[in-house]
Amino acid sequence: MTGFLDLPPMLRAHGVIRLPGSKSISNRCLLLAALAQGETQIHDLLASDDVDRMLDALTALGVTWRREDESGRFVVHGVGGCFPVKKADLFLGNAGTAFRPLTAALALSAGEYRLSGVPRMHERPIGDLVDGLLQIGADVRYEGRAGFPPLHVLPARIEGRRPIRVRGDVSSQFLTALLMALPLTGEEATIEVVGELISKPYVAITLNLMARFGVSVRQEGWRRFVIPSASRYRSPGALHVEGDASSASYFLAAGAIGGGPVRVEGVGAHSIQGDIRFAESLRELGARICMGENWVEASAPETGKLRAFDLDLNAIPDAAMTLAVAALFADGPCRLRNIASWRVKETDRIAAMATELRKVGAEVEEGEDSLAVTPPAVFRPAAIDTYDDHRIAMCFSLVSLGCRVRINDPACVNKTFPGYFDSLGKIVEPVPVIAIDGPSASGKGTVAALVARALGYHYLDSGALYRVLALAAMRAGIALEDEAGLAQLAESLPVRFDEGRIWLDGDEVTDAIREEICSTGASRVAAVPVVRAALLERQRDFRRRPGLVAEGRDMGSVVFPDAQCKIFLTASAEIRAQRRAKQLIDKGIAANMRDLLRDLMDRDARDAARPVAPLKKLDDAHLLDTTGFGVEEAVAFVLDEVRSSLNAPR
Ligand code: DC
Repeated sequence: MTGFLDLPPMLRAHGVIRLPGSKSISNRCLLLAALAQGETQIHDLLASDDVDRMLDALTALGVTWRREDESGRFVVHGVGGCFPVKKADLFLGNAGTAFRPLTAALALSAGEYRLSGVPRMHERPIGDLVDGLLQIGADVRYEGRAGFPPLHVLPARIEGRRPIRVRGDVSSQFLTALLMALPLTGEEATIEVVGELISKPYVAITLNLMARFGVSVRQEGWRRFVIPSASRYRSPGALHVEGDASSASYFLAAGAIGGGPVRVEGVGAHSIQGDIRFAESLRELGARICMGENWVEASAPETGKLRAFDLDLNAIPDAAMTLAVAALFADGPCRLRNIASWRVKETDRIAAMATELRKVGAEVEEGEDSLAVTPPAVFRPAAIDTYDDHRIAMCFSLVSLGCRVRINDPACVNKTFPGYFDSLGKIVEPVPVIAIDGPSASGKGTVAALVARALGYHYLDSGALYRVLALAAMRAGIALEDEAGLAQLAESLPVRFDEGRIWLDGDEVTDAIREEICSTGASRVAAVPVVRAALLERQRDFRRRPGLVAEGRDMGSVVFPDAQCKIFLTASAEIRAQRRAKQLIDKGIAANMRDLLRDLMDRDARDAARPVAPLKKLDDAHLLDTTGFGVEEAVAFVLDEVRSSLNAPR
């Protein structure tokens, strides 16, 4: 695993996204252009790991291609038949769209080739394709476990006229691979599908692209396919790769869950990709969908909430994963059926999705070829494991429309969509946070509470957490030097904030934590790094719709570094000591100005000098010195800053 990405909770989603090119179309086009006669210009080719694997393989096989410009225009010089390089060792990562079709094309290329991939690729079945190739005389051997890559391909006499029977119920890519390779034999070839063909729309993409390269397959339903004799691929000249309809699913779902409208550009009503039908599934969930020639747009249902669903998703297995996450936002239990192919994809997606959906609070029932998802009553923030599976990373990013979420190994999206999280950032609007930091008794507590009330936002008094912790430690007899003891206490601190009142384990401590002993204790426990770490997530959980005003010392620097508005509120030490004295006297507690001033300055010095989260004004914080200000003026100043920050362009 390499790193993680924390997504804050999102308020809504709206905007326009230009989609990257389709992976399925990109890799098919590259192979067909390579085998064709003539030069093919490919526009909008996807830039991603899987496409790079195909490009590398084509280079190794003697195909020349070049990238024309930054816009993704490629020129491929077709070799007009079998690959000219007759011996090669190919590493294809985890790219099924490269591995399967190349296996078939190389088996018919009269050369000696090795094909291997990442360990997961070696767990993904390929036996049905190899069986099909053996039926026409190809010599393909397993280097490891029978039925799985890596493969060793040897030259053989191909008898193309024999009909090939191939199973269609494990992966449609086996059929796709045979269809694309068989024209290399020059003879009439027949393929008969055994069992129910899954993911038919992907086979439709294959047939559509083969036709554009001059080979028309005679089709008898989804059972029998005949490639006429003397079929040869010829370059169509230029070709545009449609936007990726599977990638579109994340943005469309974001629009359906997060208000919308979200528009994706690059696919539309006449797309050749099956996953365009995802938009229709969303419509069945109540989402409002509009479609044009080259765009699709999704908005939330009139009622605001998606409807529970029970759908057969065999035709759109990839986009269906997005529906599994959308189910978290539905108004009742949902069922995804006929998705057995999930088990042989980048990971066992049925098992992985079930595990990760449970982490955020859903109840999930895992069937052999289905998934039942009951949405959580309350979303639970979680760290999502992604199993080196780009689609898990992308679909779980939508959880952020319910609560904050951590995506582990986010770079796995590079398989098909390197800029995914940047694109997502353009259409989602995080729940706003107003961070108000400053020294003790600067008045930030009073100001923050009033600002929160004026905006109708939630309010976090983070100092109170450190105060409660100090009090709880003293009550439990935990020494303030006992860092491990304090951290453990902080992890499970039974504190509750309720309408301005604070409870510790059922005991109201609103006033008790304001006493000087708690002030001093808080300042000491707050200097312990493990304590700060233990309280971090608890503070982040206060960020809920419609927004949060958070006050403390490190709200803008550590807890909410992405806060939309940051204020540093201060006043002279003398004024602050006077304010604190007045507070104490109002509560009937004796106050000595000299002692108070000294304590305050000691505390400021400690808060500013500690190595973790020291108190300081950030460059991006607005300074507000309230020495000569009343509360109302301070609140008005903050509200002004908030308005201009929230209206600033993102
Ligand atoms: O704001 P306050 O006086 O209630 O804070 C009590 C102590 O907790 C103070 O010494 C600083 C510390 N604190 C902190 O270190 N980080 C925060 N975010 C809030 C308070």
